[in-house]
Amino acid sequence: MHGKVSSMPCGPIKLFHLSDIHFGLEDQRAIDWVRDCIARERPDAVAITGDLTMRARHREFRAACEWITALDVPVTVEVGNHDIPYFNLYQRFFAPYQRFKKIEKLVETQLDLPDLAIVPLRTTTRAQYQRFPWSNGWVTERALDHCLEAIDAHPEGTRILVTAHHPLTERRERDGKLLTINGTSTMEALAGRKVMAILSGHIHDPFDLTADTAAGPLRMVGAGTLSRRIRSTPPSFNEITIDGDTLHVEARNLERVATPAMQIPEVPENALPPREPGEPISAVGTVPPEDPPVH
Ligand SMILES: [Fe+2]
Ligand SMILES: [Fe+2]
Repeated sequence: MHGKVSSMPCGPIKLFHLSDIHFGLEDQRAIDWVRDCIARERPDAVAITGDLTMRARHREFRAACEWITALDVPVTVEVGNHDIPYFNLYQRFFAPYQRFKKIEKLVETQLDLPDLAIVPLRTTTRAQYQRFPWSNGWVTERALDHCLEAIDAHPEGTRILVTAHHPLTERRERDGKLLTINGTSTMEALAGRKVMAILSGHIHDPFDLTADTAAGPLRMVGAGTLSRRIRSTPPSFNEITIDGDTLHVEARNLERVATPAMQIPEVPENALPPREPGEPISAVGTVPPEDPPVH
């Protein structure tokens, strides 16, 4: 899908990058605050990088759709691993997106802003023959082709941001554990096209890192969570300002923690709190004493 927002050139573009709201276990205070920030500051667009719900239940989707449709700005939504039916296997395999009905126009939609496009990349799959569980990312050939075709359709010089649920890091730094399948080749393809940044979620802690690929550097920007499933930072969202060729990220939060203290130094395996030595942790270190519930 494709949403043309404006073709008029203008000054800096302001985006709000939200992720992992996990309706069903949302942080009510945080989402009320974000809703008010959006209404007051009116960003040019809002990118929500997946995990709208906890278990893709109908009531969770109802709450998510209600909250999102009330936002009076252009929105694009990625599908997270928590958003495809978990208990109903028939739906998981044959109609995984049925529960998005009320916001289907926003799901994986491309947003065209002045000289800047936000292009979706699907990393969530219904099943993975390579491993179980299926919660981590997989960029299928089809998903990558779809994304690259969309990028290549833009005139030369258009600034491109790609949105995905999972970070594209293919292997965990400390032990080489497989994270996102085909992540390395995907990052290379995006870097080769001079994509400004890939925006992702899934980790529940923010980051702003640059990966070295065979085709050059690729900026990777992760948003924290707006749920009560925190990893090592309080609930937050990213405010992204794009001015010419520069992209500035601020990890906004209600606790007024400065952005550098919010961001983790490398991409961990998942959203679980760091428990073992060597796992990346934010400087603010808001690690919950018990693992957050998954229900
Ligand atoms: Fe999540
Ligand atoms: Fe996730």
